[in-house]
Amino acid sequence: MRDTDHMNTPDAGRQTHVLALLGPSAQAVQSAMESQNRFSLKFHDAKDCSRLPWQAEHQPDLVLLEPPTGDQDRLIAWLRELGTLAPHTPVLVIGELLSVGAVQALLALQATNVVPLPFATDAFLAQINAVMHRDDDTTNNAQVWSFMSAVGGAGATTLAIETAFQLQSGLSSHGRVALIDLNFVDGACAAYLDTPANLRLGDVAADPERIDDALIEAFASKHDGGFDVLAAGRDPFGYQPINAQTVGRLLDVCCDIYDHVVIDISRWMQDWTMDVVCGSDALVIVSELTVPALHAARDLAQNIEANAPQSGDHLHLILNRMAKRVFGHSISIADAQKALGRKTSGAISSDWDGAAQAVNYGLPIGMASTKSKIPKDIQSLVEILNAPAVCPDVANRIRLAS
Ligand SMILES: Nc1ncnc2c1ncn2[C@@H]1O[C@H](COP(=O)(O)OP(=O)(O)O)[C@@H](O)[C@H]1O
Ligand SMILES: [Mg+2]
Repeated sequence: MRDTDHMNTPDAGRQTHVLALLGPSAQAVQSAMESQNRFSLKFHDAKDCSRLPWQAEHQPDLVLLEPPTGDQDRLIAWLRELGTLAPHTPVLVIGELLSVGAVQALLALQATNVVPLPFATDAFLAQINAVMHRDDDTTNNAQVWSFMSAVGGAGATTLAIETAFQLQSGLSSHGRVALIDLNFVDGACAAYLDTPANLRLGDVAADPERIDDALIEAFASKHDGGFDVLAAGRDPFGYQPINAQTVGRLLDVCCDIYDHVVIDISRWMQDWTMDVVCGSDALVIVSELTVPALHAARDLAQNIEANAPQSGDHLHLILNRMAKRVFGHSISIADAQKALGRKTSGAISSDWDGAAQAVNYGLPIGMASTKSKIPKDIQSLVEILNAPAVCPDVANRIRLAS
């Protein structure tokens, strides 16, 4: 994700490897971590560990320590070992009554915190988040691609869904993909994919800091295609409670959890729309091949560039429902580029049957119809969007006269 004023994002999240030496809270900790599918836990009974069971070849991302009741000396020994072996690895100590020696050993480490008892799952997960992201800088590896239709029905939702699916099926098993529907009035991602619409962003709009990994897990619906869907239920007044801080925080946290974030966003500008556009690594404007749609796409692109000149190098125009040219009245890519006044980044084949079959089964097209050309075209689009950005000078040079 690109940095914007509102959206400073941490590194992309993957499976978190946790080394846990636990005493009385072992069961509570294990079930809290199992409730999330992002942890891989290596658990040891604290009673059996006078020393850290450290394996240099399996360095954990996080260490959890809880000594057997009252055994502060054992805790101090573990912390001192960590000070030598891995002073930068985040450490959470469970239990608050620490001896002076334990506090001193804890302070020698770089990222630490204490989880108070009685054990509370939500507070514990929030502590993990905080201790792991203490050193965050403002860069971020998650790729954010936003899809916006130039006119209603041009196909942004269809293409965003298919892109999320193709990204997921092409990634290594550790890669995570989120599809986020930012149309809070009548977004269609959840309906097209037959998933629950659990994104209740309005509930936390007054306190966006409440959005953390645990809340995103609650908002997200898992699709059989392997990616998560974050979409709100239909609501004619759905935009009213949403503010820029909440959308910014949602995307910040999602960029921390996922490797790819695909956004379906409306062309009807909200006061946070340009933040999302500027924070995206790619903005895909989807047009169909009619003169009014192409003119709408041209105007939309110009409007966005006028408001955010830096967006020019990551703005892509895609022609959807490209049909084989049979009759003289259909529009070629060359005609379309002329009407748009600029080069297009690609075209997606028309396949009404494949697209209809997919939504009727609640699936991406790549899962519903093996014969469709659309998934292959989306794979090409993914390659284009993954390619390094063209610098603005070059983009201007390849722009055609209108
Ligand atoms: N490449 C395509 N070929 C055939 N039909 C398509 C294609 N892309 C989208 N559609 C269909 O067009 C309609 C509108 O698509 P949708 O993605 O909902 O548009 P938007 O999100 O821009 O309003 C849907 O019925 C969808 O199945
Ligand atoms: Mg749509």
